[in-house]
Amino acid sequence: MIKICGTGSALPAKKVTNDDLSKIMDTSDEWISSRTGIRARHLVTTETTTGMAVEASRQALEQAGITAEELDIIIAATLTPDHVLPTLACEVQATLGAVNAVAFDLHAACSGFLFSMNTVAAYMQSGVYKNALVIGAETLSKIMDWNDRGTCVLFGDGAGAAVIRNLEEDGTNGGLLSFAQHSDGARGSVLACGNRPVQHPFAQPREEENQNVSMDGQAVYKFAVSTVPKVIEEAVTKAGLTIEDIDLFVLHQANQRIIESVAKRLKQPIEKFPMNLQACGNISAASVPILLDSLNKDGKIKPNDRIVLAGFGAGLTWGAAVIQW
Ligand code: ACO
Repeated sequence: MIKICGTGSALPAKKVTNDDLSKIMDTSDEWISSRTGIRARHLVTTETTTGMAVEASRQALEQAGITAEELDIIIAATLTPDHVLPTLACEVQATLGAVNAVAFDLHAACSGFLFSMNTVAAYMQSGVYKNALVIGAETLSKIMDWNDRGTCVLFGDGAGAAVIRNLEEDGTNGGLLSFAQHSDGARGSVLACGNRPVQHPFAQPREEENQNVSMDGQAVYKFAVSTVPKVIEEAVTKAGLTIEDIDLFVLHQANQRIIESVAKRLKQPIEKFPMNLQACGNISAASVPILLDSLNKDGKIKPNDRIVLAGFGAGLTWGAAVIQW
């Protein structure tokens, strides 16, 4: 059984409300909250992606009751590591002293935590590794155009983590039951962020890329509401279950209207779709593990609950997994 045995999360101390934003740009709480549900987000002041990831990881290890030395693999899902090199996963490994783990980053934008979890599960199913740490951590505030009110108001910073173990010998059922994941690079331009320009002495001049996030909001909205219900149904069917068997749907926290639309399309009550986007905004790869950790710590998940985790975002990428707690 491949099981989530511990969770953790960390948010920056600085909370920035919609009203705070309206003092520095032409926006309002009414505009942001009515279109997205978001009322506040946490933004780094002194915190780092690595520092938040380490804090979330320590909590997850403590809850799982294992030491950092027992980890075989660390995958960090991020699009905003502190450095290009070394990777976030290696920086976390060094701080935790997880000397026996292989560590690397996986970049799948808002689907990153989910794809990382599915990757460690595949290693575990083939018997390669037993104990994994999966992290989703972002400092999205550093890749926002703070003059673009259409994007910067949507995102926040933070980190979540989960310790995932292959407990094959414990004889109980449950854990990860199934997953499904997809990409469509042909539609990638709807949510984009450029990289550093090529500037070596032999380079030809090229058109400069926007090094901040740019988004066709309506195209992203249509993509999310059409693909997410389908991939959830695909994963649930693979698990041999029906949508009615699912107790909780923990979706990427992009937008309340997207989540409400998915609930409607799946004909499920909105109460099964917990949200934290009101207080945290969209934290890309960190959204799902932060929400999972708060549900776990608040006692909102009961043993044997069947939970769908779903991610979707840039790439385009999207996926879902079914777990039994
Ligand atoms: N405050 C006030 N006005 C604003 C703001 C703002 N923060 N941002 C844009 N506006 C204005 C625009 O300038 C525009 O004005 P105009 O009509 O005078 O030109 C008007 O509001 C409408 O702008 P639209 O972009 O058309 O607004 P829309 O109704 O599409 O809402 C939104 C934008 C909320 C982004 C919506 O498209 C959406 O929810 N999309 C989903 C995308 C999403 O959630 N992305 C998250 C990242 S991707 C991911 O995580 C999967």
